[in-house]
Amino acid sequence: MKDLFGQALLDYHNGNYTEDIITETNISDKDSLPLPYLFRNFDNMPKLEQEALNSCRGSILDVGCGSGCHSLYLQKKGFTVKAIDISKGAIEVAKQRGVLVCEVKALIDETHTFDTILLLMNGTGIFEELSQVSKYLTHLKSLLKPNGQILIDSSDIKYMYTDEDGGYWMDMNSNYYGELDYFLSYKGEKEDPMKWLYLDFDTLKMACETIGLNCDLVLEGDHFDYLARLS
Ligand SMILES: C[S@@+](CC[C@H](N)C(=O)[O-])C[C@H]1O[C@@H](n2cnc3c(N)ncnc32)[C@H](O)[C@@H]1O
Repeated sequence: MKDLFGQALLDYHNGNYTEDIITETNISDKDSLPLPYLFRNFDNMPKLEQEALNSCRGSILDVGCGSGCHSLYLQKKGFTVKAIDISKGAIEVAKQRGVLVCEVKALIDETHTFDTILLLMNGTGIFEELSQVSKYLTHLKSLLKPNGQILIDSSDIKYMYTDEDGGYWMDMNSNYYGELDYFLSYKGEKEDPMKWLYLDFDTLKMACETIGLNCDLVLEGDHFDYLARLS
């Protein structure tokens, strides 16, 4: 991984903001991911994220923390937060912005336990593909203190497969429709291709039930997105 995402966060944080990240997937054209969005404050967060932050309790793990926008808000509210991310640049930025406990670490390598685990901005993306959902959910379950909760958001991206007549063009013989190949570029450089998973609520709920987690729908967003609580 070249860590172009982290480079972009560092540039923005250091006042060198000249361009946005460009994203593309195997089913969608190029789009820009505005860097200021990755530094959003509570008022500029989507309702799902605000609800997640308002539902936090106890000790918190912020998985894939990025620039630390959720961790910083929670810290200011008096919570004890640990933030992890696989991006060195992201953790450097989170640290410089004041996140007190943050570490370059993949979710699968975390071993401590928490009352609340947050995975936000399509939290299921980190699972990468449907075949890994059980493994990740089992691991997340092992990181929960008694009565702990996991707050995770995602979207049902079935709408991305509709054509102009409203019909679906999905290939039913291919993999789960939420498994995307994700391409990111920044300042003319291309990141190594990534896998990124969007998981519809029913599939998430079914996967949770098979490993003994409850999965409740907390809130639906405006565009097929949702926040779920796993406990
Ligand atoms: C879409 S960004 C969201 C960042 C931040 N949560 C936000 O809402 O602004 C996803 C983040 O997850 C991190 N990430 C991806 N895979 C990860 C993994 N296996 N473990 C921990 N972090 C991961 C990425 O480096 C990136 O910072």
